[in-house]
Amino acid sequence: MSSFLSAAWGADTPTAPIWLMRQAGRYLPEYRKLKERYGFWRMCRTPEIAAEVTLQPVRRFPLDAAILFNDIMTPLPPMGVDIDFDPGPVIRRPVRTPEAVHRLRTPARDEVAPFVADAIRLIRQACPVPLIGFAGAPLTLAAYLVQGGGSADYLEFRTWLVRNPGLARELLDKLTDVTIGYLRMQVGAGAQAIQIFDSWAGIHHERGYAAFGLPYAARVLDALGGLGVPRIYLAVGASHLYPQIATLPAEVVSVDWRYGLSRCRQAMPGKVIQGNLDPAVLLAGDQVIDTATVQLLRDGLGGAHIFNLGHGVLPATPPGAVARLVDAVHRFSRAAALAEADTQDRSEERSFRSERSPGFTAGMSTSSAGNRLLPRSGRGRMGKTCTMRRWPRARTPPLVSQELAWLSCS
Ligand code: CP3
Repeated sequence: MSSFLSAAWGADTPTAPIWLMRQAGRYLPEYRKLKERYGFWRMCRTPEIAAEVTLQPVRRFPLDAAILFNDIMTPLPPMGVDIDFDPGPVIRRPVRTPEAVHRLRTPARDEVAPFVADAIRLIRQACPVPLIGFAGAPLTLAAYLVQGGGSADYLEFRTWLVRNPGLARELLDKLTDVTIGYLRMQVGAGAQAIQIFDSWAGIHHERGYAAFGLPYAARVLDALGGLGVPRIYLAVGASHLYPQIATLPAEVVSVDWRYGLSRCRQAMPGKVIQGNLDPAVLLAGDQVIDTATVQLLRDGLGGAHIFNLGHGVLPATPPGAVARLVDAVHRFSRAAALAEADTQDRSEERSFRSERSPGFTAGMSTSSAGNRLLPRSGRGRMGKTCTMRRWPRARTPPLVSQELAWLSCS
């Protein structure tokens, strides 16, 4: 099994698999060339072009998974919604009234986007790594539909939600039904994993998410259970929702860069963690990329980890930075880091017991980058017992503990 699928099913792989959200996109000159010629929407709807764009980053970099090139808005036009891209989605007639909600159609699974099924089949013939299909979560799709497009705070949508809870549930139910059919179609066509993008979950209060987010995301994820594909759930800016997200029927949770990986693991026990490098790091030069990557990988020890960014690749990212990142991730042996930490632990324990060295005690109590806590967990799949562990100061690369100490979130 590929390292991506192994990790997604929970294996503590010897190296972390890596793929990136928006790995196909505007930072690649070959993408920009196609976009100039065809435009974004036509690229999404033409199977040969969507397949080509999906494969562009996989040809350039030794990534461990591909993600279907398309958009979370794709299932909405067959429901009767007009959408343009500029460059984000623009919905000229937002869906806010009972009539507008009732008018929305619920197309059958094979009518939602047959061109996506064709693209998936084409990609599978040529793609050397697993293909991830995806859809937007109902609450995030509803945010665009009601707001009419992207927004910093979705004020219109948040107001509408609390004023029209019954209508909101009707809208979310329709979106859930269509999304389930659309995703089952993707798996039937050959998608080997599924990611649900709940990009705007984080703008909601815990109670709002419990009422309008969680139940619908859970219904979508639940409907994919038993199809033999791992399920990934992404929410952005949502650390206040982790106790709820931990209950979702998803094998993997993709986290943004705001919260350290080991804390995410503690907050969502049993979940594979995907993430979470700040996309801005890729604009900061090779040395920062190397250091931040190693630091993140260390924080990701203690359970299965799929390396990704906390959100999509930024358009200004130099392609060379992505190459550097992929290489840095693949060069890091998680197995060796764990073994090394075990040895260090044992010698530190010995010296602690025999000497009760004041210097050592002082070192353990500081929270510098190289002296951090890893989550408590049981026996890992590599046969190592991973207990609460501190990284010894001596092994910290100097740059980490000095200029980049802020990158250590825990
Ligand atoms: O991740 C991938 O590489 C797969 C392709 C993909 C796209 N959009 C291509 C795209 C995926 C998975 C998406 C998901 C998506 N689309 C989300 C969820 C993820 C997220 O970013 O939070 C959302 C909210 C959308 C809606 C959307 N589409 C927005 C907000 C934008 C504009 C943002 C931007 O990057 O400018 C789009 C357009 C879009 N979707 C582009 C791409 C490559 C840029 C189009 C262009 O070339 O101008």
